[in-house]
Amino acid sequence: MSHLSERPEKPVVGVSMPHESAFLHVTGTALYTDDLVQRTKDVLHAYPVQVMKAHGRITALRTEPALAVPGVVRVLTGADVPGVNDAGMKHDEPLFPDEVMFHGHAVAWVLGETLEAARLGAAAVEVELDEQPALITLQDAMAAESYHGARPLMETGDIDAGFADSAHVFTGEFQFAGQEHFYLETHAALAQVDENGQIFIQSSTQHPSETQEIVSHVLGVPAHEVTVQCLRMGGGFGGKEMQPHGFAAVAALGAKLTGRPVRFRLNRTQDLTMSGKRHGFHASWKIGFDADGRIQALDATLTADGGWSLDLSEPVLARALCHIDNTYWIPNARVAGRIAKTNTVSNTAFRGFGGPQGMLVIEDILGRVAPQLGLDPMELRERNFYQPGQGQTTPYGQPVTQADRISAVWQQVQDEAGIADRGREIAAFNAAHPHTKRALAITGIKFGISFNLTAFNQGGALVLIYKDGSVLINHGGTEMGQGLHTKMMQVAATTLGIPLHKVRLAPTRTDKVPNTSATAASSGADLNGGAIKNACEQLRGRLLQVAASQLGANASDVRIVQGVARALGSDKELAWDDLVHTAYFQRVQLSAAGFYRTEGLHWDAKSFRGTPFKYFAYGAAATEVEVDGFTGAYRIRRVDIVHDVGESLSPMIDIGQVEGGFVQGAGWLTLEDLRWDTGDGPHRGRLQTQAASTYKLPSFSEMPQEFNVTLLENATEEGAVYGSKAVGEPPLMLAFSVREALRQAAAAFGPSGVSVDLASPATPEAVYWAIQEARQGDASLNGHAGNGHARDGVAANGHAGNGHAASGGVRTDAEALSGA
Ligand code: MTE
Ligand code: MOS
Repeated sequence: MSHLSERPEKPVVGVSMPHESAFLHVTGTALYTDDLVQRTKDVLHAYPVQVMKAHGRITALRTEPALAVPGVVRVLTGADVPGVNDAGMKHDEPLFPDEVMFHGHAVAWVLGETLEAARLGAAAVEVELDEQPALITLQDAMAAESYHGARPLMETGDIDAGFADSAHVFTGEFQFAGQEHFYLETHAALAQVDENGQIFIQSSTQHPSETQEIVSHVLGVPAHEVTVQCLRMGGGFGGKEMQPHGFAAVAALGAKLTGRPVRFRLNRTQDLTMSGKRHGFHASWKIGFDADGRIQALDATLTADGGWSLDLSEPVLARALCHIDNTYWIPNARVAGRIAKTNTVSNTAFRGFGGPQGMLVIEDILGRVAPQLGLDPMELRERNFYQPGQGQTTPYGQPVTQADRISAVWQQVQDEAGIADRGREIAAFNAAHPHTKRALAITGIKFGISFNLTAFNQGGALVLIYKDGSVLINHGGTEMGQGLHTKMMQVAATTLGIPLHKVRLAPTRTDKVPNTSATAASSGADLNGGAIKNACEQLRGRLLQVAASQLGANASDVRIVQGVARALGSDKELAWDDLVHTAYFQRVQLSAAGFYRTEGLHWDAKSFRGTPFKYFAYGAAATEVEVDGFTGAYRIRRVDIVHDVGESLSPMIDIGQVEGGFVQGAGWLTLEDLRWDTGDGPHRGRLQTQAASTYKLPSFSEMPQEFNVTLLENATEEGAVYGSKAVGEPPLMLAFSVREALRQAAAAFGPSGVSVDLASPATPEAVYWAIQEARQGDASLNGHAGNGHARDGVAANGHAGNGHAASGGVRTDAEALSGA
């Protein structure tokens, strides 16, 4: 068996190719879960009965009026559940609840002959509530001390000594918003039962094995009676890692009880009001620097808005803590985490999985304090980078082995972006334009790859070679647009030594590869690629024996390259198809199951220490913005990115991931503004941004005017499949550069040396208030802290309700200073 990262002659990996379904995507012929309904007979439509109150115990649920609606076949309630009435892994998520926990909570589902019948039936169901007080915002929850789940604590070094050694100490608060996934395809499933009672579910899920597990719990049947298939998703972004399970279980239950296929596809408003989002966070912090601006100590508490149930909040919070260091060495740290329990949807995985939230905290701190340290923010960041060869570890104890890459991407992006000249151009522009300011910011990222929980770092595959030489691969990963399948076909073709067209990929199914992990944590290609490579190596090993005897050579001298087997030093050739055909007649097994597990990982969740990540992905982005001083409106003029994907498996796919991730991150940080009704009226807790009309997503008009992405070269990752690195999530965090550029542009409207708070999302309105703050000069240094102007200003405009516009001012902590 060859080394995992080594590439053979003429590999198919590393070649730029379009997404395997690109043609289907652009011609509208790609099938998504709900498209299968048209090909299925006698389908019933499921429609949720959503209760439009944020909190209350159900005192009456009357389904008879629904059954009187023509076309309504059945109403599913908790009484129908033969197994466990729970949709989560933490058993805190009743599928049919007795208590409404958030505005829009579904308490029953109606099955109808038509969607319209089901909808009218759902409207006819009568629900009576004993209403309870509802906690909507993080502030509400924190004031009520409403928390759930684990409360991790990450500690390193000696925090008191660190502050004692600090020449500058700052404290502050920061609250920032979550994000809606807004995948194009909403949650959907189609369940069928065969003559044996075997359940087959097509689900738009990133985690078919867990969908299978939850369905089997709900139905009270063993896992082998349930098969889950995912053809592809129209986007998942983490939103389909955990949340599809309960929905799929409803469809499965309906199919089981009626004997007919049952489908649902949430409409956009249902999807927005019923499914979880990225966690918004609150952070309070105290940070100490030495006289040169080097971080000495960080003391922080992160509070994640978990929503009503835990879902994935604990691992999301763990990843947030594990990323608060980002690219910076923090010798002494104490970071506590907690999960607020609010009466809102249950927040869940979203690209970066808490990592972005942790990293945003430290980037925000550095952006805010740089002026007070009298340092250029770039300089401050650079001074704090992990240094190679110093044995530095993260606050959770993992050595940062490739610290040289932090400065490598940082340096390269400056060169490619022409920073030196542009800095002068921007200064000249700003001097000449009192009402318009430009700024350029560079931020870097370090993102840990692997699931924190070691057990999840395994993958499986099943590779079949048919007599005619064609190859069919199955693996445990799902396709959501990220190009995993494309990469997996390239890996199989490379390992077998055949052209790509010989390889076909079967839909992801739990009856082909069992016990798979979610396609998440960006690990899809690492884990499944490792497993496919393993299966293909077994097959290649067998075929090399056959080829050796045909070619009269030693198996170790035979190579299969581009579909032709040859022995070293000989002209004799054996075509792949003939080789396979011969192998079949020699009764050589032409299928193999592959397996991969990531070696060298360990993690102790209790002590919050270990080496949870196989490696880190690195990147840096330089973003220039232009801000209008009258309105706060802005444009992204130019973005340059240098990103580390190791040795790319599929460069076009990777560049697409970098671009898409960056834009999605910029959306989170600048445009996408989730709002709930926080008033005490009848609609308390209602999500107000229920459509694309009120929830602003990035579109073409917000794209950077110039957008350059470079993949770091000569970056082979030892110990990862064909030397590649994961790419799915890390680039999202390159968008910090947009936010920091906006902060710096706002600051340029005022005197220098002023710390500027910027709300997140940094909407034009938020930028406007940041400009006002900058114009007022050094107010924040004069004790006008605690509640930044951003909040006061926004409150004056009546939008403070969600609290996420608020961010406390930075202030110099006089007490701590005296210790210096
Ligand atoms: N890219 C597209 N186009 N659509 C998606 O839903 N999800 C992201 C990322 N890139 C996503 C995407 C998330 S959250 C993750 S974890 C990874 O893809 C998952 O796939 P991978 O492990 O194959 O990278
Ligand atoms: Mo991605 S948030 O790990 O699905």
